[in-house]
Amino acid sequence: MPKPVTKAVFPVGGLGTRFLPATKAMPKEMLPVVDKPLIQYVVDEAVKAGIEELIFVTGKGKTAIEDYLDQAPELEAMLEGRGKEDLLAALRDSVPAGVTIAYTRQPEPLGLGHAVWCARKLVGDEPFAVLLADDLIKSDVPCLKQMIDAYSEVGGNMLAIMEVPREDTRRYGVVKPLDSTGGDNTGGEPGDLFRVDGIVEKPDPAEAPSNLAVVGRYILQPEIFGFLEGQRKGAGGEVQLTDAIATLMDRQELRGLRFEGTRYDCGSKLGYMKANVAFGLEHADTGAGLRDFIKTLDL
Ligand code: G1P
Repeated sequence: MPKPVTKAVFPVGGLGTRFLPATKAMPKEMLPVVDKPLIQYVVDEAVKAGIEELIFVTGKGKTAIEDYLDQAPELEAMLEGRGKEDLLAALRDSVPAGVTIAYTRQPEPLGLGHAVWCARKLVGDEPFAVLLADDLIKSDVPCLKQMIDAYSEVGGNMLAIMEVPREDTRRYGVVKPLDSTGGDNTGGEPGDLFRVDGIVEKPDPAEAPSNLAVVGRYILQPEIFGFLEGQRKGAGGEVQLTDAIATLMDRQELRGLRFEGTRYDCGSKLGYMKANVAFGLEHADTGAGLRDFIKTLDL
């Protein structure tokens, strides 16, 4: 029985330059999709997957995240006084229940690998999850829960995987599945778990080992910290988590899970807008009105 995953690391120190000027004075993780900030979706996903300890690696200008995940007694008292039960419930739901939260700071945004390394003392000698708030995943079963369920059978290290168009490989970590025939679509169907034989960060389409991309959900063993220690710079001049995983892979098992669900790249404007439409169409307050509006568009 593999050691259970009870801790999750949320690297939220990134600058969010792709959303400037919106992110000039506010963290990108606080951008709302309908009525909840991105950070809430990913925290809810972790809590639903059974995570008990949330570890945030923050940076400059990110205090709004800490305030957001905290109680707001004055606001609650005001809403209570005005009998606004719905809003009160939504407000209370925004504070993750039954978990502990720890914050540590990444002194400089040196890359995802460095951010995860900054959490090493808080994680200790245990397997842990990493969730990137930019990757918003809409699914019946939360993506991390799908992974933890699979992990509880097989242990090791695991990545969430989706198929992407070949021309997009330079935006992702890309894996080489074991037994790959070298063609596209080598990871089978959603729900499939497969062994990974190689991983590379942001390869050119011509050099990519497949079209199977890593989405921002990881289950990692603590030995990864040893390989992040050197903090060598990789693709884009950043300390890449992918590079440490590539080394770890030689010693421990690494699997990919073709999760079931749709991922929205909320690190890009277009992906963020798509997420707002997808979630907006399902929201009780906005669904019908948004559908009517879309029908009026002369596309
Ligand atoms: C990061 C990872 C990359 C992964 C991607 C998923 O890249 O380095 O391997 O595929 O997240 O969103 P970033 O989007 O931070 O450039």
